[in-house]
Amino acid sequence: MPDPTRRMVVCGLLAGLVAPVSLAACSSKTPAANSGGTPLAKLADVPVGSGAIVDGPSGKVLIVRPSENEVKGLDPVCPHAGVTVSKPAGGTITCPGHGSVFDASTGDRKKGPATTGLTPIPVKISGDSVVTA
Ligand code: FES
Repeated sequence: MPDPTRRMVVCGLLAGLVAPVSLAACSSKTPAANSGGTPLAKLADVPVGSGAIVDGPSGKVLIVRPSENEVKGLDPVCPHAGVTVSKPAGGTITCPGHGSVFDASTGDRKKGPATTGLTPIPVKISGDSVVTA
C-alpha cells in the first residue's frame, strides 16, 4: 500500500502544480474574449434620440443613440472651423459656430457651411456601457 499512497501524493502535487499553469494559460485568453474596448459611458447616460459628449482615449466623442439598441460615435469637432457641435435634438446635430446641420443618426452633412459630415468614431454597446469598438 505504500506505492499507491506515494503515487496519489505525487499526482496530487502534479495536479496542484499543473492546474494553476493551465488556468493561467486559459485566463490569458479571457480578456480577448471579453474585450469590449475602452469604456466611454454608461448606456443609461446616453438618451435615446439624443446623445452625449464624453472623453475618449483620443479626444471627445459624441455618442448618438438613434434607437434603444443602437449607438454611433462621431467626432464632435465641426469640420467647418472646429467648433464643438451640440448634442442631437429633433434628428439633427447643429453646430453653434455657423449653423451647419448634420444628421443625428449618421453625422452626414445636411446643411453648410461645413462641406463634409462629422467623422465617425467606432463605438459599440457592451453590457450596460458604450465602449470603443
Ligand atoms: S464651425 Fe461649425 S459651422 Fe462653422
